[in-house]
Amino acid sequence: MTALDDATAPARRLPWHLRGNYAPVLSEVDAVDLPVHGALPHELNGRYFRNGANPKNGPTMHWFAGDGMLHGIRLREGRAEWYRNRWVRTKALDGVDRMDMSTGTFDLTVGLANTHVVRHAGRILALEEGSFPNEVSPDLDTLGPCDFDGRLHTPFTAHPHTCPETGEMHFFGYELVSAPFVTYHVVDRDGTLVHSQPIEVGGPTMVHDFAISRHYAIFLDLPVVFDLDLALTGTMPFQWRESYGARIGLLHRDRARVGEAPRWFDVPLCYVFHIMNAWDDGTDDTEATSVWLDAGRHATMWAGGPDSFEPCFMHRWRFDLHTGQVHEEQLDDVSHAFPRIDDRLTGLPNRFGWAVAPRDGNINGSINGSRNGSRNGDMDAASCIVKYDLHTGARSVHDFGPTSQSGEPVFVPAGDDAAEDDGYLVTYVHDAATETSKFVVLHAADMTAAPIATVPLPQRVPHGFHGSWFADL
Ligand SMILES: [Fe+2]
Repeated sequence: MTALDDATAPARRLPWHLRGNYAPVLSEVDAVDLPVHGALPHELNGRYFRNGANPKNGPTMHWFAGDGMLHGIRLREGRAEWYRNRWVRTKALDGVDRMDMSTGTFDLTVGLANTHVVRHAGRILALEEGSFPNEVSPDLDTLGPCDFDGRLHTPFTAHPHTCPETGEMHFFGYELVSAPFVTYHVVDRDGTLVHSQPIEVGGPTMVHDFAISRHYAIFLDLPVVFDLDLALTGTMPFQWRESYGARIGLLHRDRARVGEAPRWFDVPLCYVFHIMNAWDDGTDDTEATSVWLDAGRHATMWAGGPDSFEPCFMHRWRFDLHTGQVHEEQLDDVSHAFPRIDDRLTGLPNRFGWAVAPRDGNINGSINGSRNGSRNGDMDAASCIVKYDLHTGARSVHDFGPTSQSGEPVFVPAGDDAAEDDGYLVTYVHDAATETSKFVVLHAADMTAAPIATVPLPQRVPHGFHGSWFADL
Protein backbone atom coordinates (compact mmCIF):
# COMPACT_ATOMS: atom_id res chain seq x y z
CA MET A 1 0.00 0.00 0.00
CA THR A 2 1.30 3.46 -0.84
CA ALA A 3 0.50 6.65 1.01
CA LEU A 4 -2.07 7.37 -1.68
CA ASP A 5 -4.05 4.16 -1.22
CA ASP A 6 -6.04 5.60 1.63
CA ALA A 7 -6.66 9.30 1.50
CA THR A 8 -8.13 9.50 4.96
CA ALA A 9 -6.05 7.37 7.35
CA PRO A 10 -2.73 9.15 6.85
CA ALA A 11 -4.37 12.53 6.30
CA ARG A 12 -2.28 14.27 8.91
CA ARG A 13 0.87 13.37 7.04
CA LEU A 14 -0.32 14.22 3.54
CA PRO A 15 -0.17 17.75 2.13
CA TRP A 16 -3.45 19.47 1.33
CA HIS A 17 -3.27 18.65 -2.37
CA LEU A 18 -3.43 14.91 -1.61
CA ARG A 19 -6.25 15.06 0.96
CA GLY A 20 -10.04 15.21 0.72
CA ASN A 21 -11.25 15.69 -2.83
CA TYR A 22 -7.76 16.60 -3.96
CA ALA A 23 -6.76 13.01 -3.30
CA PRO A 24 -6.39 10.94 -6.45
CA VAL A 25 -8.74 8.15 -7.41
CA LEU A 26 -6.87 4.94 -7.96
CA SER A 27 -9.09 3.07 -10.38
CA GLU A 28 -10.28 3.54 -13.93
CA VAL A 29 -14.02 3.05 -14.16
CA ASP A 30 -16.43 2.40 -17.00
CA ALA A 31 -20.13 2.95 -16.45
CA VAL A 32 -22.93 2.94 -19.01
CA ASP A 33 -26.52 4.20 -19.11
CA LEU A 34 -26.16 6.37 -16.07
CA PRO A 35 -29.22 7.59 -14.15
CA VAL A 36 -30.33 11.14 -14.94
CA HIS A 37 -32.09 13.46 -12.51
CA GLY A 38 -34.07 16.02 -14.45
CA ALA A 39 -33.80 15.96 -18.22
CA LEU A 40 -30.65 16.23 -20.31
CA PRO A 41 -31.26 18.60 -23.24
CA HIS A 42 -31.53 16.59 -26.43
CA GLU A 43 -29.27 19.04 -28.24
CA LEU A 44 -26.40 18.06 -25.93
CA ASN A 45 -24.92 15.40 -28.16
CA GLY A 46 -21.25 15.02 -27.49
CA ARG A 47 -18.65 14.56 -24.79
CA TYR A 48 -17.52 16.58 -21.80
CA PHE A 49 -13.91 15.80 -20.89
CA ARG A 50 -12.14 17.33 -17.92
CA ASN A 51 -8.46 17.02 -17.03
CA GLY A 52 -6.74 17.10 -13.66
CA ALA A 53 -3.75 15.99 -11.65
CA ASN A 54 -4.13 12.47 -10.29
CA PRO A 55 -0.76 11.13 -9.11
CA LYS A 56 -0.34 7.42 -9.70
CA ASN A 57 3.07 6.59 -8.36
CA GLY A 58 3.16 8.22 -4.95
CA PRO A 59 2.91 11.63 -3.30
CA THR A 60 3.74 14.71 -5.34
CA MET A 61 5.28 17.97 -4.18
CA HIS A 62 2.54 20.19 -5.58
CA TRP A 63 -1.05 20.06 -6.85
CA PHE A 64 0.22 20.80 -10.35
CA ALA A 65 2.66 17.87 -10.37
CA GLY A 66 0.27 14.91 -10.63
CA ASP A 67 -0.26 12.63 -13.61
CA GLY A 68 -3.04 13.69 -15.94
CA MET A 69 -6.38 11.93 -15.62
CA LEU A 70 -9.34 12.60 -17.88
CA HIS A 71 -12.91 12.21 -16.67
CA GLY A 72 -15.34 11.97 -19.56
CA ILE A 73 -19.09 11.72 -19.94
CA ARG A 74 -20.84 10.96 -23.22
CA LEU A 75 -24.33 12.38 -23.80
CA ARG A 76 -26.64 11.41 -26.62
CA GLU A 77 -30.28 12.32 -27.20
CA GLY A 78 -31.07 12.88 -23.56
CA ARG A 79 -29.15 9.90 -22.25
CA ALA A 80 -25.91 9.75 -20.28
CA GLU A 81 -24.47 6.99 -22.37
CA TRP A 82 -21.21 6.51 -20.50
CA TYR A 83 -18.79 7.86 -17.94
CA ARG A 84 -15.20 6.77 -17.81
CA ASN A 85 -11.93 8.02 -16.40
CA ARG A 86 -8.47 7.31 -17.74
CA TRP A 87 -4.96 8.29 -16.90
CA VAL A 88 -3.25 9.78 -19.93
CA ARG A 89 -0.66 7.13 -20.80
CA THR A 90 2.32 9.49 -20.84
CA LYS A 91 5.95 8.55 -20.65
CA ALA A 92 5.97 10.30 -17.27
CA LEU A 93 3.39 7.80 -16.03
CA ASP A 94 5.95 5.11 -16.84
CA GLY A 95 8.54 6.90 -14.74
CA VAL A 96 10.52 8.65 -17.48
CA ASP A 97 11.99 11.97 -16.29
CA ARG A 98 11.41 14.92 -18.57
CA MET A 99 14.55 16.70 -17.39
CA ASP A 100 18.07 15.42 -17.87
CA MET A 101 19.69 16.70 -14.70
CA SER A 102 23.20 16.36 -16.14
CA THR A 103 22.52 18.67 -19.06
CA GLY A 104 19.51 20.69 -17.88
CA THR A 105 17.65 19.75 -21.06
CA PHE A 106 14.07 18.59 -21.42
CA ASP A 107 12.55 15.76 -23.44
CA LEU A 108 9.42 17.37 -24.86
CA THR A 109 7.77 14.02 -25.48
CA VAL A 110 7.61 13.55 -21.70
CA GLY A 111 4.90 15.45 -19.87
CA LEU A 112 2.12 15.07 -17.33
CA ALA A 113 -0.76 15.98 -19.70
CA ASN A 114 -2.77 17.05 -16.66
CA THR A 115 -4.09 20.56 -17.23
CA HIS A 116 -6.53 20.91 -20.13
CA VAL A 117 -8.07 19.01 -22.99
CA VAL A 118 -9.02 20.68 -26.27
CA ARG A 119 -10.04 19.64 -29.77
CA HIS A 120 -8.75 21.15 -32.99
CA ALA A 121 -8.79 19.90 -36.57
CA GLY A 122 -9.96 16.49 -35.44
CA ARG A 123 -7.31 16.01 -32.78
CA ILE A 124 -8.17 15.80 -29.08
CA LEU A 125 -5.15 17.02 -27.14
CA ALA A 126 -4.41 16.57 -23.44
CA LEU A 127 -2.22 19.50 -22.47
CA GLU A 128 0.31 20.46 -19.85
CA GLU A 129 2.56 23.39 -20.50
CA GLY A 130 5.98 21.74 -20.19
CA SER A 131 5.80 19.33 -23.11
CA PHE A 132 4.17 18.37 -26.40
CA PRO A 133 0.44 17.64 -26.25
CA ASN A 134 -0.66 14.04 -25.83
CA GLU A 135 -3.35 13.09 -28.32
CA VAL A 136 -6.24 11.00 -27.03
CA SER A 137 -9.14 9.29 -28.75
CA PRO A 138 -12.82 10.17 -28.31
CA ASP A 139 -12.93 7.12 -26.02
CA LEU A 140 -10.06 8.44 -23.87
CA ASP A 141 -7.41 6.07 -25.14
CA THR A 142 -3.99 7.70 -25.36
CA LEU A 143 -2.55 7.94 -28.87
CA GLY A 144 0.76 9.57 -27.89
CA PRO A 145 2.73 12.81 -28.07
CA CYS A 146 1.81 15.19 -30.92
CA ASP A 147 4.57 17.30 -32.51
CA PHE A 148 2.55 18.37 -35.56
CA ASP A 149 4.46 16.21 -38.01
CA GLY A 150 7.81 17.21 -36.58
CA ARG A 151 7.19 20.97 -36.88
CA LEU A 152 6.84 21.72 -33.16
CA HIS A 153 10.11 22.17 -31.28
CA THR A 154 8.93 23.83 -28.07
CA PRO A 155 6.52 22.95 -25.27
CA PHE A 156 2.84 23.62 -25.91
CA THR A 157 0.80 25.76 -23.50
CA ALA A 158 -2.22 24.33 -21.69
CA HIS A 159 -4.20 27.32 -23.00
CA PRO A 160 -4.26 27.55 -26.78
CA HIS A 161 -6.99 29.73 -28.27
CA THR A 162 -8.86 29.02 -31.48
CA CYS A 163 -9.98 31.98 -33.57
CA PRO A 164 -13.67 31.55 -34.40
CA GLU A 165 -13.24 33.50 -37.63
CA THR A 166 -10.18 31.78 -39.14
CA GLY A 167 -10.30 28.42 -37.39
CA GLU A 168 -6.60 28.84 -36.55
CA MET A 169 -5.37 27.59 -33.20
CA HIS A 170 -2.97 30.13 -31.70
CA PHE A 171 -0.65 29.03 -28.93
CA PHE A 172 2.76 29.49 -27.42
CA GLY A 173 5.35 27.46 -25.61
CA TYR A 174 7.63 28.64 -22.85
CA GLU A 175 11.00 27.23 -21.92
CA LEU A 176 13.08 27.57 -18.83
CA VAL A 177 16.77 27.23 -19.54
CA SER A 178 17.73 29.23 -22.61
CA ALA A 179 16.29 31.83 -24.99
CA PRO A 180 13.96 32.09 -26.73
CA PHE A 181 12.00 31.57 -23.56
CA VAL A 182 8.67 32.08 -25.36
CA THR A 183 7.71 31.00 -28.88
CA TYR A 184 4.44 31.86 -30.60
CA HIS A 185 2.83 29.35 -32.94
CA VAL A 186 -0.18 29.13 -35.24
CA VAL A 187 -1.82 25.92 -36.45
CA ASP A 188 -4.16 26.44 -39.38
CA ARG A 189 -7.74 25.22 -39.46
CA ASP A 190 -6.61 21.96 -41.05
CA GLY A 191 -4.17 21.16 -38.26
CA THR A 192 -0.88 22.14 -39.91
CA LEU A 193 1.63 24.14 -37.89
CA VAL A 194 2.18 27.12 -40.19
CA HIS A 195 3.94 29.73 -38.07
CA SER A 196 6.50 29.74 -35.26
CA GLN A 197 8.13 32.91 -33.96
CA PRO A 198 10.35 33.60 -30.95
CA ILE A 199 9.01 36.22 -28.52
CA GLU A 200 11.69 38.10 -26.63
CA VAL A 201 10.93 38.23 -22.90
CA GLY A 202 13.03 39.19 -19.91
CA GLY A 203 13.93 35.67 -18.82
CA PRO A 204 12.47 32.28 -17.92
CA THR A 205 9.06 33.60 -16.90
CA MET A 206 6.20 31.20 -16.20
CA VAL A 207 3.46 31.91 -18.73
CA HIS A 208 0.26 29.98 -18.15
CA ASP A 209 -2.11 31.64 -20.61
CA PHE A 210 -2.23 34.17 -23.41
CA ALA A 211 -4.95 35.70 -25.58
CA ILE A 212 -5.91 36.63 -29.07
CA SER A 213 -8.08 39.43 -30.34
CA ARG A 214 -9.19 39.73 -33.95
CA HIS A 215 -5.91 41.42 -34.90
CA TYR A 216 -3.47 40.77 -32.03
CA ALA A 217 -1.82 38.00 -30.09
CA ILE A 218 -1.29 39.07 -26.48
CA PHE A 219 1.62 37.86 -24.34
CA LEU A 220 2.23 38.09 -20.59
CA ASP A 221 5.77 38.73 -19.31
CA LEU A 222 5.29 38.68 -15.53
CA PRO A 223 7.53 38.26 -12.48
CA VAL A 224 7.13 34.55 -11.67
CA VAL A 225 10.49 33.21 -12.79
CA PHE A 226 12.12 29.79 -13.03
CA ASP A 227 15.10 29.13 -10.77
CA LEU A 228 17.33 26.23 -11.81
CA ASP A 229 18.86 25.91 -8.32
CA LEU A 230 15.38 25.41 -6.85
CA ALA A 231 14.59 22.87 -9.55
CA LEU A 232 17.66 20.87 -8.70
CA THR A 233 16.52 20.66 -5.07
CA GLY A 234 13.25 19.08 -6.17
CA THR A 235 11.06 21.87 -4.83
CA MET A 236 8.72 24.24 -6.67
CA PRO A 237 11.11 25.80 -9.19
CA PHE A 238 9.31 29.13 -9.66
CA GLN A 239 9.54 32.20 -7.46
CA TRP A 240 8.15 35.73 -7.33
CA ARG A 241 10.84 38.23 -8.39
CA GLU A 242 9.76 41.89 -8.25
CA SER A 243 12.90 43.12 -9.98
CA TYR A 244 11.81 41.28 -13.14
CA GLY A 245 9.01 43.80 -13.77
CA ALA A 246 5.67 43.21 -15.48
CA ARG A 247 4.60 43.91 -19.02
CA ILE A 248 2.12 42.76 -21.64
CA GLY A 249 2.96 42.50 -25.32
CA LEU A 250 0.71 42.99 -28.34
CA LEU A 251 1.75 41.32 -31.58
CA HIS A 252 -0.20 42.06 -34.75
CA ARG A 253 -1.39 38.66 -35.99
CA ASP A 254 -0.86 39.38 -39.68
CA ARG A 255 2.34 41.37 -39.36
CA ALA A 256 3.81 38.61 -37.20
CA ARG A 257 4.02 36.59 -40.38
CA VAL A 258 6.57 39.07 -41.75
CA GLY A 259 8.66 39.22 -38.61
CA GLU A 260 7.09 42.00 -36.58
CA ALA A 261 7.85 41.86 -32.85
CA PRO A 262 5.37 42.57 -30.05
CA ARG A 263 4.86 46.06 -28.72
CA TRP A 264 5.31 45.91 -24.96
CA PHE A 265 3.31 47.83 -22.36
CA ASP A 266 4.58 48.07 -18.77
CA VAL A 267 1.90 47.28 -16.16
CA PRO A 268 1.88 47.30 -12.35
CA LEU A 269 3.44 44.18 -10.81
CA CYS A 270 1.02 41.28 -10.79
CA TYR A 271 0.54 37.71 -11.91
CA VAL A 272 -2.14 36.29 -14.20
CA PHE A 273 -2.93 32.62 -14.56
CA HIS A 274 -6.09 32.83 -16.61
CA ILE A 275 -7.39 35.25 -19.18
CA MET A 276 -11.11 35.49 -19.77
CA ASN A 277 -10.96 37.16 -23.20
CA ALA A 278 -9.49 39.96 -25.29
CA TRP A 279 -10.76 42.04 -28.19
CA ASP A 280 -9.85 45.09 -30.25
CA ASP A 281 -11.68 47.78 -32.22
CA GLY A 282 -10.01 47.21 -35.57
CA THR A 283 -12.01 46.41 -38.67
CA ASP A 284 -11.18 44.90 -42.03
CA ASP A 285 -10.39 48.42 -43.25
CA THR A 286 -9.07 50.25 -40.21
CA GLU A 287 -6.31 49.61 -37.71
CA ALA A 288 -7.30 49.03 -34.10
CA THR A 289 -6.87 51.99 -31.78
CA SER A 290 -7.28 50.00 -28.56
CA VAL A 291 -7.05 46.45 -27.32
CA TRP A 292 -8.91 45.22 -24.23
CA LEU A 293 -7.94 42.31 -22.00
CA ASP A 294 -10.06 40.82 -19.19
CA ALA A 295 -8.23 38.47 -16.84
CA GLY A 296 -7.87 37.34 -13.26
CA ARG A 297 -5.17 39.42 -11.58
CA HIS A 298 -3.16 38.29 -8.55
CA ALA A 299 -1.27 41.07 -6.76
CA THR A 300 1.58 38.61 -6.23
CA MET A 301 2.13 34.90 -6.73
CA TRP A 302 4.18 32.56 -4.50
CA ALA A 303 5.83 35.56 -2.84
CA GLY A 304 5.71 33.66 0.46
CA GLY A 305 6.57 30.25 -0.93
CA PRO A 306 4.95 27.63 -3.13
CA ASP A 307 1.74 27.44 -1.07
CA SER A 308 1.19 31.18 -0.97
CA PHE A 309 -1.52 32.44 -3.32
CA GLU A 310 -2.94 35.93 -3.39
CA PRO A 311 -6.63 36.12 -4.33
CA CYS A 312 -7.61 36.61 -7.93
CA PHE A 313 -9.88 39.47 -9.02
CA MET A 314 -11.25 40.14 -12.48
CA HIS A 315 -9.45 43.08 -14.07
CA ARG A 316 -9.61 44.87 -17.41
CA TRP A 317 -6.62 46.39 -19.15
CA ARG A 318 -7.07 48.76 -22.10
CA PHE A 319 -4.04 49.30 -24.27
CA ASP A 320 -4.14 52.59 -26.20
CA LEU A 321 -2.26 51.96 -29.40
CA HIS A 322 -1.97 55.69 -30.17
CA THR A 323 -0.59 56.93 -26.86
CA GLY A 324 1.07 53.77 -25.59
CA GLN A 325 -0.80 54.17 -22.29
CA VAL A 326 -2.37 51.31 -20.34
CA HIS A 327 -5.50 51.72 -18.26
CA GLU A 328 -6.04 49.06 -15.58
CA GLU A 329 -9.38 48.62 -13.83
CA GLN A 330 -10.68 46.11 -11.28
CA LEU A 331 -14.06 44.80 -12.41
CA ASP A 332 -15.16 42.73 -9.44
CA ASP A 333 -14.36 42.25 -5.76
CA VAL A 334 -15.08 38.52 -5.50
CA SER A 335 -12.16 36.21 -5.89
CA HIS A 336 -12.60 33.67 -8.64
CA ALA A 337 -10.91 30.91 -10.57
CA PHE A 338 -11.26 29.31 -14.00
CA PRO A 339 -12.99 32.07 -16.01
CA ARG A 340 -14.67 30.92 -19.23
CA ILE A 341 -16.74 32.50 -21.98
CA ASP A 342 -18.75 31.36 -24.95
CA ASP A 343 -15.79 30.17 -27.00
CA ARG A 344 -17.49 31.37 -30.20
CA LEU A 345 -16.48 34.87 -29.03
CA THR A 346 -12.79 34.19 -28.46
CA GLY A 347 -11.00 37.39 -29.48
CA LEU A 348 -14.26 39.26 -30.01
CA PRO A 349 -16.24 41.51 -27.64
CA ASN A 350 -18.14 39.39 -25.12
CA ARG A 351 -20.79 40.42 -22.68
CA PHE A 352 -20.85 37.40 -20.39
CA GLY A 353 -18.36 35.24 -18.56
CA TRP A 354 -18.54 32.53 -15.95
CA ALA A 355 -16.12 31.39 -13.25
CA VAL A 356 -15.87 29.43 -10.03
CA ALA A 357 -16.25 31.49 -6.84
CA PRO A 358 -16.53 30.98 -3.08
CA ARG A 359 -20.01 31.12 -1.60
CA ASP A 360 -19.19 33.90 0.87
CA GLY A 361 -17.58 36.13 -1.74
CA ASN A 362 -14.57 36.22 0.54
CA ILE A 363 -12.38 39.01 -0.74
CA ASN A 364 -9.45 37.46 1.07
CA GLY A 365 -9.60 34.93 -1.65
CA SER A 366 -10.58 31.71 -0.03
CA ILE A 367 -10.75 30.04 -3.41
CA ASN A 368 -7.14 30.80 -4.09
CA GLY A 369 -5.95 30.48 -0.54
CA SER A 370 -5.57 32.84 2.32
CA ARG A 371 -3.14 35.69 2.49
CA ASN A 372 -1.13 33.91 5.17
CA GLY A 373 -0.14 31.31 2.66
CA SER A 374 -1.69 28.37 4.44
CA ARG A 375 -3.58 27.09 1.44
CA ASN A 376 -3.25 27.02 -2.26
CA GLY A 377 -6.02 26.54 -4.78
CA ASP A 378 -8.63 25.96 -2.12
CA MET A 379 -11.37 24.40 -4.20
CA ASP A 380 -13.06 23.28 -0.98
CA ALA A 381 -14.47 26.82 -0.85
CA ALA A 382 -15.65 26.78 -4.46
CA SER A 383 -19.34 26.31 -3.88
CA CYS A 384 -20.56 28.70 -6.54
CA ILE A 385 -20.47 29.54 -10.20
CA VAL A 386 -20.50 33.28 -10.79
CA LYS A 387 -21.78 34.88 -13.99
CA TYR A 388 -20.42 38.27 -15.01
CA ASP A 389 -22.47 40.69 -17.09
CA LEU A 390 -19.71 42.93 -18.35
CA HIS A 391 -22.15 45.43 -19.88
CA THR A 392 -24.07 46.18 -16.69
CA GLY A 393 -21.52 45.14 -14.10
CA ALA A 394 -24.07 42.79 -12.57
CA ARG A 395 -23.00 39.53 -11.05
CA SER A 396 -25.25 36.53 -10.46
CA VAL A 397 -24.45 33.32 -8.68
CA HIS A 398 -25.46 29.68 -8.67
CA ASP A 399 -24.75 28.25 -5.22
CA PHE A 400 -24.37 24.48 -4.97
CA GLY A 401 -24.59 24.61 -1.19
CA PRO A 402 -22.18 24.59 1.73
CA THR A 403 -20.83 21.08 1.26
CA SER A 404 -20.52 21.10 -2.53
CA GLN A 405 -17.70 22.32 -4.71
CA SER A 406 -17.95 23.13 -8.39
CA GLY A 407 -15.39 22.67 -11.10
CA GLU A 408 -14.77 25.03 -14.00
CA PRO A 409 -18.00 25.92 -15.85
CA VAL A 410 -17.86 25.12 -19.57
CA PHE A 411 -20.38 26.90 -21.79
CA VAL A 412 -22.24 24.94 -24.47
CA PRO A 413 -24.46 26.96 -26.84
CA ALA A 414 -28.02 25.73 -27.30
CA GLY A 415 -27.49 25.78 -31.06
CA ASP A 416 -25.27 27.13 -33.78
CA ASP A 417 -27.14 30.44 -33.88
CA ALA A 418 -27.89 30.71 -30.18
CA ALA A 419 -27.32 34.03 -28.42
CA GLU A 420 -24.26 34.51 -26.22
CA ASP A 421 -25.71 33.11 -23.01
CA ASP A 422 -28.40 30.94 -24.62
CA GLY A 423 -27.09 27.57 -23.63
CA TYR A 424 -25.76 25.48 -20.80
CA LEU A 425 -22.95 25.29 -18.32
CA VAL A 426 -21.55 21.83 -17.73
CA THR A 427 -19.21 20.78 -14.95
CA TYR A 428 -18.52 18.22 -12.26
CA VAL A 429 -19.66 18.98 -8.71
CA HIS A 430 -18.37 17.21 -5.60
CA ASP A 431 -20.30 16.91 -2.34
CA ALA A 432 -17.96 16.59 0.62
CA ALA A 433 -20.80 15.44 2.87
CA THR A 434 -21.40 12.30 0.82
CA GLU A 435 -18.01 12.10 -0.88
CA THR A 436 -19.77 11.74 -4.21
CA SER A 437 -19.60 13.57 -7.50
CA LYS A 438 -22.11 14.38 -10.18
CA PHE A 439 -22.19 15.87 -13.64
CA VAL A 440 -24.36 18.98 -13.70
CA VAL A 441 -26.06 20.96 -16.46
CA LEU A 442 -27.09 24.52 -15.60
CA HIS A 443 -28.94 27.24 -17.49
CA ALA A 444 -26.19 29.62 -18.58
CA ALA A 445 -28.62 32.54 -18.76
CA ASP A 446 -30.36 32.04 -15.41
CA MET A 447 -28.02 31.25 -12.59
CA THR A 448 -30.84 31.19 -10.04
CA ALA A 449 -32.61 28.27 -11.72
CA ALA A 450 -32.22 24.76 -10.42
CA PRO A 451 -29.94 22.52 -12.47
CA ILE A 452 -31.56 21.24 -15.64
CA ALA A 453 -30.06 17.83 -15.10
CA THR A 454 -27.65 16.04 -12.83
CA VAL A 455 -25.98 12.69 -13.41
CA PRO A 456 -24.65 10.93 -10.30
CA LEU A 457 -21.28 9.43 -11.09
CA PRO A 458 -20.02 6.02 -10.01
CA GLN A 459 -16.96 7.44 -8.31
CA ARG A 460 -15.58 10.65 -6.87
CA VAL A 461 -14.11 13.11 -9.40
CA PRO A 462 -11.19 14.88 -7.70
CA HIS A 463 -10.85 18.65 -7.96
CA GLY A 464 -9.14 19.29 -11.27
CA PHE A 465 -8.36 21.93 -13.79
CA HIS A 466 -9.85 22.53 -17.24
CA GLY A 467 -12.23 20.80 -19.61
CA SER A 468 -14.09 21.11 -22.89
CA TRP A 469 -17.32 20.10 -24.53
CA PHE A 470 -16.80 18.24 -27.79
CA ALA A 471 -20.04 18.34 -29.74
CA ASP A 472 -20.71 15.51 -32.17
CA LEU A 473 -19.71 16.63 -35.63
FE1 LIG B 1 -5.07 26.89 -16.53
